Amino acid sequence: MNNYIRIFDTTLRDGEQSPGATMTSAEKLEVARTLVRLGVDVIEAGFPAASPDDLEAVRRIAIEVGSARGDGTSKRPPIICGLARASKNDIDKAWEAVKHAACPRIHTFLATSEIHMQYKLKMDREQVLERVIEMVSYARSLCQDVEFSPEDAGRSDPQFLYLVLGEAIKAGATTLNIPDTVGYITPDEFGALIAGIIKNTPGIENCIVSVHCHDDLGLATANTLAGIQAGARQAEVTINGIGERAGNTSLEEVVMALNTRRPVFNLVTGIDTTQIMRASRLVSNYTGIVVQPNKAIVGANAFAHEAGIHQDGMLKHQQTYEIMRPEAVGVTQTRLVLGKHSGRHAFKARLYELGYAVSETDLDKAFERFKILADKKKTITDADLEALVADEFYQPSQVYTLDGLQVACGTMGMPTATVRLRGPDGTTQIQAAVGTGPVDAAYKAMDAIIQAPNNLLEFSVHAVTGGIDALGEVTVRIESKNGHPLSFDTQTETDRTRTFGGHGADTDIIVASAKAYLAALNKLLVATHPDGQAEAPAVITT
Ligand code: KIV
Ligand code: ZN
Repeated sequence: MNNYIRIFDTTLRDGEQSPGATMTSAEKLEVARTLVRLGVDVIEAGFPAASPDDLEAVRRIAIEVGSARGDGTSKRPPIICGLARASKNDIDKAWEAVKHAACPRIHTFLATSEIHMQYKLKMDREQVLERVIEMVSYARSLCQDVEFSPEDAGRSDPQFLYLVLGEAIKAGATTLNIPDTVGYITPDEFGALIAGIIKNTPGIENCIVSVHCHDDLGLATANTLAGIQAGARQAEVTINGIGERAGNTSLEEVVMALNTRRPVFNLVTGIDTTQIMRASRLVSNYTGIVVQPNKAIVGANAFAHEAGIHQDGMLKHQQTYEIMRPEAVGVTQTRLVLGKHSGRHAFKARLYELGYAVSETDLDKAFERFKILADKKKTITDADLEALVADEFYQPSQVYTLDGLQVACGTMGMPTATVRLRGPDGTTQIQAAVGTGPVDAAYKAMDAIIQAPNNLLEFSVHAVTGGIDALGEVTVRIESKNGHPLSFDTQTETDRTRTFGGHGADTDIIVASAKAYLAALNKLLVATHPDGQAEAPAVITT
């Protein structure tokens, strides 16, 4: 058996499907480019039948990311995959979206557990088997590369699974993915299930066996590794482990476990691990889903050594308390990289070293921001640069832009904010509001201009580096109150409300807060008016 593990990333499908993870098409494209830099083998770019927007986003990724490696190397482009329920309509839509890629894949699924078949599908075993054969054959008539998943395999009868998978292979499936859809199984059980499938399914030797685990009991990574040890050669994962409910298996955990414990696994992936941290930040910024500080590999504390006894050990020998080097996952040391007197050339070179290939126009904008920051902050670190780049380049379509903000707050008087926004028609609008604090006041003033009713679900602030002059990063998540755009949940097969995340960075945390809220509002507006024709309500204009 070969020792290469294919990394199938489903951040843009199972990840994006999780509450609050909504991304715009432009953001999805940027995530896909980042996945290429990471070196993933397969990008599950979305669920094209969910909506015309979803189809278009997958199509763009297939064209712009799936047809060239995009990083100047001669490696073949990643496989671009679209998800489809086991229906002709879904499969047609998936094919319409992915066919533009050099290596397209259709991924179709149907549940095989008794509980799903009886209550959700209202189908018996024979009907399920028949549908699998029919739909896998249909998918294969369109596309050479077909993946089939028996949904809720973790709770399915193994004997029935062998039968269904064997028929799927005969019908043309090339990858068989075994999902623990509800995160129920334990590592021993999952390892045994995969071993049983490999032993008992006719024709499996010509297919790739894949594993797809959810983290409801916190076992997703352990289950994925158990499946791999039992012979699976594709792991389905997401950046930061985002996904349905408790999430999916996280890419960084699986890849770093395989790398760090190579003698145990004796397996390799094609992932450039130094890109992990950057991908993590990008996905967190775009989705508004903050990474918990103690998250393995990418959490802010993952490489922090606080206890005296640990610090002492680290000083004597790094490996006393460190099993991986932070640089291996792209965590750069907090050090002075650039200062007030650094030139454009040094700035560009450092961005390039960090993996950002920016256009000259974007470079001009970022350099301007850098100079302003360097005036306020003596030492500028890699983390500052990354926050600045995220703030400058990775913003959603700017329907409204922040043109000015002034707040009055403290123990005397009422917190007041005056906000000036530039609207889609180019005119500026000013509003003032009072609130419980300066952020509340600023948000109320923006609400008065934009008039997009929403609930603020989450607001978090963190300092990018230590020091009183640190850049503050703010992440917010909002949910629209009416006229909400919907997303489709593949598991419950129902529509549901979407939430939107926004991110902002500035040395002034009120400004960062305003930018983050505006970014989330812009996303909401773009989703409500996908053609970008959001109208400016009439307020005071200048
Ligand atoms: O969790 C699951 O079962 C899925 C399938 C669509 C593969 O996401
Ligand atoms: Zn899933």
